[in-house]
Formats: sequence, structure tokens, C-alpha cells
Amino acid sequence: MNDLETYFRQENKRFISKWTHYFDVYDRHFSRFRNQEIVILEIGVSEGGSLHMWRNYFGEKAKIYGVDVNPRCKELEENNVKIFIGSQSDRSFLKSLINQIPPIDILIDDGGHTMNQQIITYNELFDHVKENGIYLCEDLHTSYWLGYGGGHKRRGTFIEFSKNFIDYLNANHSEQRSLRTNTFTNSVNSIHYYDSIIVIEKRKKEKSFHEKIGEMSFPPPPGKSSAQKIRLRIINGFNKRINGILRFFRLKGYSWK
Ligand SMILES: C[S@@+](CC[C@H](N)C(=O)[O-])C[C@H]1O[C@@H](n2cnc3c(N)ncnc32)[C@H](O)[C@@H]1O
Repeated sequence: MNDLETYFRQENKRFISKWTHYFDVYDRHFSRFRNQEIVILEIGVSEGGSLHMWRNYFGEKAKIYGVDVNPRCKELEENNVKIFIGSQSDRSFLKSLINQIPPIDILIDDGGHTMNQQIITYNELFDHVKENGIYLCEDLHTSYWLGYGGGHKRRGTFIEFSKNFIDYLNANHSEQRSLRTNTFTNSVNSIHYYDSIIVIEKRKKEKSFHEKIGEMSFPPPPGKSSAQKIRLRIINGFNKRINGILRFFRLKGYSWK
């Protein structure tokens, strides 16, 4: 049991609501930030229990911010814990929020969990997460719950929205105009999917090159004859053209070897 779960299970603390498998995920991605001067923003304060848990885990140097739509949550403010009242689906509220808090090391979206709320929050706040920071959105199972606007492969769910992140992460390799690099490509190092959680880890990207070094294990193959080279060029050209046409009709790719 890690420190977060130990805290969760101890007595005499404020009410917290978390799924039990979340603690491992948090610890795996958050432990490098412990005892540092970091900025944490959690959307969804409820009774303030998780804010206390973060304080206990990250230590006194952490600056903790909470957002909740319930005005009573303001009463839970304390030293180094500031709470903003507003809705995570209100773009102007979120825009004003980022003018009032420093760039974020860890953002946890545990708010209302509807599709709109999660997508708007991501759109407005993702760029405010620092270069080495983390964006975590939880309770993604609502993407499968009809009452929250979810449904398997339903347009507009956060899960469907987040599937684009996989393309953005790989956009440097795209040969099509429909997929260009963007700030996600340039700032994200990895995306981690868990049951009900996505963790996006940012990291400053160095330009990456494909290198070939080291001793060969097998003798080099005999050089290709010019007839073979011509044949290979024809095959490659054919594969490229046919795949261009198939892609236009959104049909499966083909490769003639
Ligand atoms: C699951 S609870 C948060 C639990 C808390 N993080 C914890 O672990 O104890 C969800 C909270 O999100 C808040 N909420 C619901 N809709 C919201 C919205 N549109 N904007 C901001 N907060 C919202 C609710 O008032 C509620 O306090």
C-alpha cells in the first residue's frame, strides 16, 4: 500500500472519494514531485478530502489550488490551499483562472465528469501545464455512461476525443496534410491509459533521429542488380500511389511486396 492509500485508509480525516486502483497510478506518476515547490490544481473539491491528501503526500512546499462549482467549497480554503468557485465548462472562468494561478505541475480533473466539462477543461488548461508537468483526467468511464453523454465509440466523448492524442503524438511522422504537428506533438512525451484514467506527461522534446550503429551480425547481402533496383522502385511507387487512393476512400492499406 503506498502513502496515498495509507492516508486514504486512516481515520479522522475529511471525506475523500476515489477508486482504489487510482492510488497506484497517482504514485507512479506523481512521486517525482514530492517535497518540491510545485503547483497542483484539482478540479472537483467536494469536501476537501483529496486536497488534504495531496498536502500530506506532496508536503508543505506544494501550492494547492482547487476548483469547484459549489460556493461552499470556498470555506475549505487554508494556508497554501486556494479554492476558486466556478464551472469547469465555463471557458471565461477557466481563462480568468489561468491568470490567477502560476503554471501548473500537476492538473487533476476530478470534477463533474461530463464530456463537455472534460473536453473544455482540457482545451482551456492543457497549455497552462508546465513543460515537465502532468495532465490527469479521471473517471473516464463516464465516456461509456449514457447519462454523462457517453457511449461506445459515440462522437463527442472524452475517450473518442483523446484518441486524437495518439495521432498528435506521432504527427512528426505523418505524410499527410490532414495530420500536422501541433503543441501536443511538441510538448508531450507520453500518454498513459489506465482503467478510467488518462495521464499525459509533458517533456521538452529534443529533435529525434533514426540512427544505425554497431557491428552487423550477418555478412552484407550481395548488392542489388540494376534490374532489381528498378523493380523495387516500381513497387514502392505503386504502393504509394495505390495507398493514396485507398486512403482517400478511407479503405484499408495495401502493400505489394
Ligand atoms: C467526485 S467529486 C470530487 C471529489 C474530490 N476530488 C475527492 O477526491 O474527494 C466532484 C466534485 O466536482 C464538482 N463539480 C461538478 N460539476 C462541476 C463543474 N461544472 N465545475 C467544477 N466543479 C464541478 C462537484 O461539486 C463535486 O464537488
